[in-house]
Amino acid sequence: MARASRRQRAGYRVRGEICIGTATFFSFVAVILLIFAHVGQINTSTIPRDISMAKVNISTYGAALHTAIVDPVQGLYTTNFSAPLEQHAGLRQFYLFGLYSHCAFTDKALGLCSNVTTATQWTPFTAVVNDMPTNYSTLTLGLVPPDLTFVNSHYLGEFTRAAYYLLLMGTVCAGLAMLIGLWKRTLTYVISTSFAVFGTTLLLMGVTIWTVIIHKAQDINSAFVVVGSQQSTVPLGITVSTGAGLWLFWGAFISLFLSMGPYMIACCTYRG
Ligand SMILES: *[C@@H]1O[C@H](CO)[C@@H](O)[C@H](O)[C@H]1NC(C)=O
Ligand SMILES: *[C@@H]1O[C@H](CO)[C@@H](O)[C@H](O)[C@H]1NC(C)=O
Repeated sequence: MARASRRQRAGYRVRGEICIGTATFFSFVAVILLIFAHVGQINTSTIPRDISMAKVNISTYGAALHTAIVDPVQGLYTTNFSAPLEQHAGLRQFYLFGLYSHCAFTDKALGLCSNVTTATQWTPFTAVVNDMPTNYSTLTLGLVPPDLTFVNSHYLGEFTRAAYYLLLMGTVCAGLAMLIGLWKRTLTYVISTSFAVFGTTLLLMGVTIWTVIIHKAQDINSAFVVVGSQQSTVPLGITVSTGAGLWLFWGAFISLFLSMGPYMIACCTYRG
């Protein structure tokens, strides 16, 4: 009788160890992905790393502008990749937008990044318009249909800033879940389980907001130039796509989600 219960306790213990190992593995993977997602977006060099939340390709906008205004479009794009950003010093062909800054490249893949600030709002239209020489930025405001979500910098900015805080808190929770779970006590497993649940929820909310917002802003992809009050058949030549950073956050969410079950089982069965 006593021997059987001892064996039973040992069995629980082994099961607890396996669960906590599995849970720690998944929360560790989540933390690594989150570190990559955050650090990879803090660009300090002139050759930005390709980890971003959203990308904008505006390389054929010059041609669209030309068909709309007939006059030749000169000096819209700059060839000097180190010309300052958002000072009407010339448009670049490609833009990467991250959680902390945005970077702009010429077609030579040389670029410049803005200063790193936390809770940066995603305002892609403002960023590209502020790079255009003043005469073209004025024209652009009249040419791009104003009812597009892409143009609504206030809306995009507010939602993405809120999403940033959710992702940041989710990241902190994931880290705490992993670290606290390393102490082999029933209580620490209960705390780890709670952080894994909070973290998973926060990451899901943050990454969903970003995904929906990018999807809505993609209404620019199929937009046409407006001439006078008429919509022409000329595509605007501005394309929004998702960046690798978004997929890192989705991956981290899934991994932290997978750690939740094992953490729960561990705190129910483990008797440390
Ligand atoms: C940018 O868009 C143009 C036109 O749609 C396309 O031809 C080009 O391949 C794109 N470049 C990149 C790097 O996505
Ligand atoms: C490019 O822009 C930078 C920053 O404004 C300036 O210092 C540099 O002289 C420019 N280079 C050329 C070739 O115009």
